[in-house]
Amino acid sequence: MVDLSKKIRFAWSVLRRKIVHVNLQLLYTCNFKCRICDFWKEPYSEMPSLSVEQVKVITEKLARIGPQVISIGGGEPLLHKNLLEIVRILSKNNFPVMICNGWFMTPELAKALFQAGMYEVSISIDYASPAKHDEQRGMKGAFVRAVEALRMLQENRVYPHQRVHLISVVMEDNIDEIDSLIKLSRELGVTYLVTLYSDNRGRKHGMHSNSDISSRLLELKAKYPEFVALRGYIGRFSEAINNGGIDPCYAGKNLINIGTTGNVSFCIDNLEASAGNILTDDIRVIQKNLIQQRGKIACKGCWTSCRGSIETLMYGKNKLKSFLDYYEMTKDVAVEGGYCK
Ligand SMILES: C[S@@+](CC[C@H](N)C(=O)[O-])C[C@H]1O[C@@H](n2cnc3c(N)ncnc32)[C@H](O)[C@@H]1O
Repeated sequence: MVDLSKKIRFAWSVLRRKIVHVNLQLLYTCNFKCRICDFWKEPYSEMPSLSVEQVKVITEKLARIGPQVISIGGGEPLLHKNLLEIVRILSKNNFPVMICNGWFMTPELAKALFQAGMYEVSISIDYASPAKHDEQRGMKGAFVRAVEALRMLQENRVYPHQRVHLISVVMEDNIDEIDSLIKLSRELGVTYLVTLYSDNRGRKHGMHSNSDISSRLLELKAKYPEFVALRGYIGRFSEAINNGGIDPCYAGKNLINIGTTGNVSFCIDNLEASAGNILTDDIRVIQKNLIQQRGKIACKGCWTSCRGSIETLMYGKNKLKSFLDYYEMTKDVAVEGGYCK
């Protein structure tokens, strides 16, 4: 069940603009070879994965800075053999969420993940055309298995607060597919999210200037209630593309990244920028280092959702709209039946 005290402490951290979001990379190993991501390649693929004992230490350290939305990532998180145990540990004081490619999902695993305390699972699908998605992801059959995974997750939620999303990386060549992807989400009874492509990793070219992408996304959001991304977030895609990012960036202040060795960096695209190791260092010292680094490392090169959604909530212009959108993204959905507004 949802722990009310955890929710209140989290809301308090949001209001005080503290660290509220942790990207936790359990392992970089992946069964896909996506064109937009480098984590399946060396040197990442050779790195160790985080163990259950290490995750316990991380959880204890994070407890000092309050409940976090912990986004379990990688690599492919379903390849971690102790994932369920890790979700159980994380969920005691945090809100574990996960993005995965869906390949290894089974109905039993979906149920077990939710029983372990997972709050939200998003499955990545970038194109409505199966062939294009498979090609982008470097894996034949990826689209079909991702759709099946969404179905399994939606049918095996345990509590109403547990949400299932389809998520797409918005790129130059998939903007015209988003309408169909939202319709697919509707058919499956799940909700739809987007993140903007970051050209700091991967082999695809960044997006060329595109002044109307935000208005197109906002139109789709107005048309389909299933599209639950924050208006303040998608409303800045055009600005991010045209200006090469959104400045200032609050990574390090409101969100952090923990790599598979415990290394803490301010974001997933700057893994080598270490502010300390959470397995051995004091979290308060790491926090101080992160703040100092923010002033020194000039980077505004992305507007991905991990950064964009938090910053929209904390610093966006129309807070009421943002909180209403956030409510839609996280509100209870009856276990029997899909999302409806
Ligand atoms: C790194 S993946 C790891 C989880 C899982 N293997 C998957 O593919 O969903 C996490 C999310 O980041 C997205 N992603 C990958 N490369 C990206 C990039 N260059 N810019 C923005 N998002 C990216 C993926 O599509 C996915 O939604």
